[in-house]
Amino acid sequence: MNVTIPYKNSVIRELHSIDPLAERIGAVNTLVRETDGNGFRGYNTDMTGLYRSLQQENIAIAGESVIILGAGGVARAVAYLCAVKGAGQIYLLNRTRDKADKIAAEINAGEKRDCVISMQLSDYRDIPEIFGKYLCIQCTSIGMYPREDNAVIEDAAFYRKLHTGVDLVYRPFETQFLKHTAQYGAKCVSGLKMLLYQAIDAFELWNQVQITQDQADMVYRKLIRSFSRKGNIVLIGFMGSGKSTVSQILADKLGYTCIDTDVNIEQQAKMTIRDIFASRGEEAFRQMETGSLREFAECGRDRIVLSAGGGLPLREENRTLMHRIGKVIFLHAQPQTVYERLKDDHTRPLLQGENVLEKIENLEKEREKYYQMAADFVITTDQKTPQEVADEIIRCTAGMVQGEEV
Ligand code: S3P
Repeated sequence: MNVTIPYKNSVIRELHSIDPLAERIGAVNTLVRETDGNGFRGYNTDMTGLYRSLQQENIAIAGESVIILGAGGVARAVAYLCAVKGAGQIYLLNRTRDKADKIAAEINAGEKRDCVISMQLSDYRDIPEIFGKYLCIQCTSIGMYPREDNAVIEDAAFYRKLHTGVDLVYRPFETQFLKHTAQYGAKCVSGLKMLLYQAIDAFELWNQVQITQDQADMVYRKLIRSFSRKGNIVLIGFMGSGKSTVSQILADKLGYTCIDTDVNIEQQAKMTIRDIFASRGEEAFRQMETGSLREFAECGRDRIVLSAGGGLPLREENRTLMHRIGKVIFLHAQPQTVYERLKDDHTRPLLQGENVLEKIENLEKEREKYYQMAADFVITTDQKTPQEVADEIIRCTAGMVQGEEV
């Protein structure tokens, strides 16, 4: 399991064993059950994750001169990480000087070298100009949503001293600190990378697996997408997975507008889906689907729940459009569940005639990978009421959708 603020320190006394880096840092965020089942071993993947995200960006710590902004729990851990990984001089700046002094004294004693120099934040001009410039890691909460217009230091002269700026704040994706960093030509790393790699490190520890760079990149792209999109929700999944019913409940709960691509198409064509299939053929229907989706992607509407016809995610073009619209949730239902829900339905041309269960099984198998590719979140709907599914969607998108009244 993961442990978060305010228990990252106090959980240590409950552990059976602790990873040496986490012990030196004095904070644990990941618990892994001991192989003999006897209690838990604690790790700090916030820091291994940060280290890994820097490595992945080809940013070294060993021998580097580092500036750390802030002296809270995270800044302390980052200072430890830099010291342990062999940074040269580390400047630790904080508004309350005392806190920075304490951390510096503690790390210098532990590492047996005077690597950390604490300073008052407002004295940042006293940081010497050096050849090769500084790696700066921003560890305060300044600039975090919803107060996005602030940076901890606004002065251009400071940013000219940096070769790289890392902001541990990841909402918004591009903080004011990173905008200043970029403006003066330094490399920028968003805190989203650390968020990603702390999770990957934890996942690897729990499951004894290795996540490949391709997999990590794929998840990162999804993270970026979900941060840069509006608060809309797109429900995808097989026929009978519950999209239409759940989207209505969800829209009511969030105060959003519910839109169904099938209904939209039927209204525009002034005929039923069944008649469109029969008179114009499936290909014409698929063109209408893409057209309908494009309309929503281009109109820039916000606060909508879009229930997407079951075949939409199959086209790559449609998957791209969906991601422009909002967060994509894949509602998954087993063939048997779909069969029970739709066995008496006559509106879906693809599920008519003999051997309906077999048709469902085959089609679902064929489509699964497209649904997975399109999805930001996957939710199973078997044995759940539409109400329960809607609540689960709200939980898993919490903070990302703009239905703050929820
Ligand atoms: C289809 C799903 C249906 C409808 C049409 C084709 C499909 O929508 O668009 O019958 O190819 O899966 P629902 O998923 O809303 O049933």
